[in-house]
Amino acid sequence: MRAIVVRQYGGPENLEIADVPTPEPGTGEILIKVAAAGVNPVDAAVRAGYFGGRLGDRPTTGFGWDVAGTVESTGNGVTEFGHGDNVIALLNAAAVELGTYAEYVVVPANAAAFAPSSVEAPAAATLPLNALTADQALDLLALEPGQTVLVTGAAGGVGGYVVPLANRRGLRVVATAAPADELAVRGFGADVFVPRTESLADAVRNAVPGGVDGAVDAAQIGVAALDAVRDGGRFIAVTDPSTPEPARGITVSKVDIQPDGQRLAELAQLVDAGELTLRVATTVPFADAAEAHRLLEKGGLRGRIVLVP
Ligand SMILES: NC(=O)c1ccc[n+]([C@@H]2O[C@H](COP(=O)([O-])OP(=O)(O)OC[C@H]3O[C@@H](n4cnc5c(N)ncnc54)[C@H](OP(=O)(O)O)[C@@H]3O)[C@@H](O)[C@H]2O)c1
Repeated sequence: MRAIVVRQYGGPENLEIADVPTPEPGTGEILIKVAAAGVNPVDAAVRAGYFGGRLGDRPTTGFGWDVAGTVESTGNGVTEFGHGDNVIALLNAAAVELGTYAEYVVVPANAAAFAPSSVEAPAAATLPLNALTADQALDLLALEPGQTVLVTGAAGGVGGYVVPLANRRGLRVVATAAPADELAVRGFGADVFVPRTESLADAVRNAVPGGVDGAVDAAQIGVAALDAVRDGGRFIAVTDPSTPEPARGITVSKVDIQPDGQRLAELAQLVDAGELTLRVATTVPFADAAEAHRLLEKGGLRGRIVLVP
C-alpha cells in the first residue's frame, strides 16, 4: 500500500509516498481502508523533527492521527465493528511507525467509533483529534456549570470545539480569535468575544471582573492568557513550551490526548445532532502532501486540511 513518510526530518519537501506492506489487525484491532486523513499541526511538528527523540531511530516515520474510512477486516475479539462499517478513529501516531496518511491503517477497536452519518468522510476525519482534545481539556479543567472559561484560538481546530463543548457543560464562554472570526466564534456558542488585537487580560477582566475561572489556551499564548484567570483558578495548556509557570494559586496542567472510542461516538452523535460543526478547509490528494503541509504552516486556515488517498 501507499503511505506518506519521511526518511529524514525536515521541510515539507521531505514527505514522500512509500510502498509499504499493508498492516494486519491483531487481537482487538481493526484494519481501516482510509478514505480521509486530517492534517494537524502535530504532523508538521513531527515532520520537522520536533519529537525526534521521542519517536526513536526508525528508518521512516509516518504521519497522521485522524482517520475516516471503512472497516476492511477485524482482529480476534472484535465484535463491535464489521467489514464495510463507516468509522472514524484517533490513532496515537506517536506510538506507531505509520500513521493515518496511508491507504490502510490498523487501530485498536476501542479507539474507533461509527462515523457521523450526516457528513462525508473528509469532514468526519476532522473530528477525532481536535474534538477529543477539546473534551479532555474540559475534563481536566473541571469547572462547574455557571463558571466562566476563556478559550484562546477559538477559531482554530481545538478551540473551535472547546467553545461549543464548554457551552454544553453550562459554562459561560469568553473566546478570543481574530476580529474576522467573531461571527463564526459567536456561532460556536461564545458568550463574549475578545478580538485578539486587544490586550487579552485587560479585555477579559473588563468583561469578567476579577478574571475568568479557567482557561483553555489552544492558541498557546501562555502567560498573557494566564493573566486573565482569577486567583486560584485553573489553566489548561496544549503544548509544553506554552505551559506557563503556575502563579497566584492557579492550577496549571497540559492536556495529553488519549484515544477514547466511546467518547468519540458521543462526539459523532453531537455532529449528527447539529451541535458540532465540522470544517474542511480543503481536500488534497496524497501526492500533494507536501503542499498540504506548506498550507498548514502558513497559518490563517479556517477548518482542517484533509488528505485523500
Ligand atoms: N496536547 C495535546 O494532546 C494536543 C492535542 C491536539 C492539538 N494540540 C496542539 O494544540 C495546538 C493548537 O492546535 P489546533 O489544531 O487548534 O491549531 P490551529 O487550528 O492552528 O488553531 C490555533 C488557532 O489560534 C489562533 N491564534 C494564534 N494566535 C492567537 C492569538 N494571539 N489570539 C487568538 N487566537 C490566536 C490561530 O489563528 P491563525 O491561524 O490566524 O494564526 C488559529 O486559529 C497545536 O500546537 C497542536 O499541536 C495538542
